[in-house]
Amino acid sequence: MGSACAKAILFGEHAVVYGEPGIAIPVPQLTVTATFSEQDYMKSFRSLHINSPEVGLDTDIYDLKSTHPIRHLIELLQIELGISELPHKTLTIRSSIPLESGLGSGAATSIAIIRAFSGEYDHPLSVDRVSALAYEIEKIYHGTPSGIDNQVIAHGIPIFFRKGSPVEPLNLTQSLPLIIANSGIKSPTREVVGDIRDHFDQHEQVIHEIGSLSLAARDALLRWDMEQVATLMNENQRLLRLLTASNERLNDLIDIALKAGAPAAKLTGAGRGGNLIALYRNELERMHIQKALSEAGAQVYL
Ligand code: PMV
Repeated sequence: MGSACAKAILFGEHAVVYGEPGIAIPVPQLTVTATFSEQDYMKSFRSLHINSPEVGLDTDIYDLKSTHPIRHLIELLQIELGISELPHKTLTIRSSIPLESGLGSGAATSIAIIRAFSGEYDHPLSVDRVSALAYEIEKIYHGTPSGIDNQVIAHGIPIFFRKGSPVEPLNLTQSLPLIIANSGIKSPTREVVGDIRDHFDQHEQVIHEIGSLSLAARDALLRWDMEQVATLMNENQRLLRLLTASNERLNDLIDIALKAGAPAAKLTGAGRGGNLIALYRNELERMHIQKALSEAGAQVYL
């Protein structure tokens, strides 16, 4: 079995696509698992069978289009691990990460599958190799991915990220007091990233300012200056709105979180739907924010 967890981007989504820095953390409470099992002998599958209830797949691998991310990944793994013929087994993929919602479900699914194959074929892969293979599939999901999702999920630790540079682990002294809440609107990353790219000239300055926030946020996080982290998060959200990455529903939910006492709240991931993150200072505050967001119809994960 292979598994991988979700991720949340604290700072710098979209800006990272253009080489600006960003900060991301793993979210171990939401996971994907990929498990090999023997096939039911009553059914006669031609080859590896993929069963993924959350994605709605129950199919032989060769019945998937050759461009399908899972098929493409498995073909890459065949080359990587020297597998000439796929096993007549079932690969079951289960996920608690909401799809197309900014929490890295695509990268986590790829990495869970990579780890399952690595285990099944007793072929250890380095973290960098796992990340690089997942990045190939991110190109299908995202178009022009920065690589932040595959890096943070492969490493499984908070990271300071800049495209093309080695990943910098962020040694946080405590776990972040964060609520993650789902707007309920699915939002394909590829479309949002593509649309913002089409208006890049208009957004260049804002993108650069977001990068500066990530730099300041790294220092604030390392000092555990949560007041400063909150200020920077709110500023990041203001800039994301200028980028057109937010939308009415996210803006409303963010206002609700702030009114319920959150010192900061922002969207996370590509935006125009998906999830938001909100900070809290104590348990009472957490309960208030969680209640207010739930009452507004958001699914609260943490
Ligand atoms: O997959 P998402 O929705 O978490 O988006 C990833 C973050 C972006 O910066 C919007 C895209 C990227 O490739 O970095």
